[in-house]
Amino acid sequence: MTAKATLTSRAANHSLLGSLRVPGDKSMSHRAVMFSSLAEGTSHVTGLLEGEDVMATLAAFRAMGVTAEGPDNGALTVHGVGMNGLQAPESDLDMGNSGTAMRLMAGILAAQRFASKLIGDESLTKRPMRRVTVPLTSMGARCATDDNGCPPIHIRGVEKLEPITYKLPMASAQIKSAVLLAGLYADGETSVTEPAPTRDHTERMLKAYGYQCQSEKVSDTVTTIRVKGGGKLTATDIDIPADISSAAFFMVAASIVPGSRLLLEHVCVNPTRTGIIDILKAMGADIKLINPRAVGGEPVADIQVSYVGLKGCEIDPELVPLAIDEFPVICIAAACAEGQTTVSGAEELRHKESDRISAMVEGMRAIGVDVEERRDGMLITGGKIAGGTVESYHDHRIAMSFAIAGAVSENGVLINGAETVATSFPNFVELANAAGLSIDD
Ligand code: S3P
Repeated sequence: MTAKATLTSRAANHSLLGSLRVPGDKSMSHRAVMFSSLAEGTSHVTGLLEGEDVMATLAAFRAMGVTAEGPDNGALTVHGVGMNGLQAPESDLDMGNSGTAMRLMAGILAAQRFASKLIGDESLTKRPMRRVTVPLTSMGARCATDDNGCPPIHIRGVEKLEPITYKLPMASAQIKSAVLLAGLYADGETSVTEPAPTRDHTERMLKAYGYQCQSEKVSDTVTTIRVKGGGKLTATDIDIPADISSAAFFMVAASIVPGSRLLLEHVCVNPTRTGIIDILKAMGADIKLINPRAVGGEPVADIQVSYVGLKGCEIDPELVPLAIDEFPVICIAAACAEGQTTVSGAEELRHKESDRISAMVEGMRAIGVDVEERRDGMLITGGKIAGGTVESYHDHRIAMSFAIAGAVSENGVLINGAETVATSFPNFVELANAAGLSIDD
């Protein structure tokens, strides 16, 4: 099941029909491991994503004395050590490719009495980390990045943290979460104000583990979230639904491969994550949410996607944080749509697992798409996809997006650097081929 370094994706064998369930939500899986580890008692997690990113988080807690059985087919049992029960790790904590793991762990570790060092792979070592060390330092944490603002993050122990009132400089759930997690250890109330809605899994899951966390809308878009330090997390059982960010590849595939009608089962449709649905609908996609229900404090539904010719559109910049991880595959939808699509207000894409604006522009040009790069987005003119060879820059979502492009290409798409698909979607190739795509690894 481990993805290979090179993928070749050819025209789909047939329309995408039937139903499939993609793996568990990555953001929720990280948080379930973190909160279960810090809780009092034993938590049972089901639906956990067994991707490399989440495994890095789990390995870090095991290295700090947490015992856990699994994961086995998405089931993980974690024996929590309580808020103050972590032990100093004997070596550096390797967060692999995962920005979420590094930034959220920084929030937790900055509040511990012991020292630690967070390291990552080549891609993570190029990503900006002062966005978390700056607010953490203002809480009294002793943590620092390398001189270039990137990992490793060096953390020294502290006795206690001070609460802060923090205005996020950008709409980022990772920074919000890092500050809130440190706030659980601060002496008083920490508040974080986000300029626009970002995924709220931290807030929802804190409540599921019995920790009070208040969100107050300041205006239509601005929200302030508050936590008081000194509380405790109580073990719980948590069922993690499928990841809309993984389902997105199939939502686009079914929208562009003629005759498709695909049901994506049990997907988390938290409104802070459904920008992909709004954007595809704005392009004319036929998407229906079926059997909406609540699972563990999160809205869940089956998503039915039927083929329809897409039309280009001007993507509302307000939707950017609500679809931040889906832009690579949205670019592929735009490349297949009639007319032009503009992406703007999306400069943050340059700071993901790769510079996703330049990686997508370069790759789309290589397969015959007409695209203009802009500082904060791009202009894509839809048309035919000829095919060719693309670099994914070892970015899982770039690799999977071009695999979807291959499904409607004339000559196939060869993708280099695709081994990182295993970070978020270990069985991508298997599920894609079962649905009707034609991908060789
Ligand atoms: C995530 C937040 C987002 C997203 C990432 C997961 C999270 O990052 O891109 O894949 O789980 O909090 P930012 O907060 O940096 O936008």
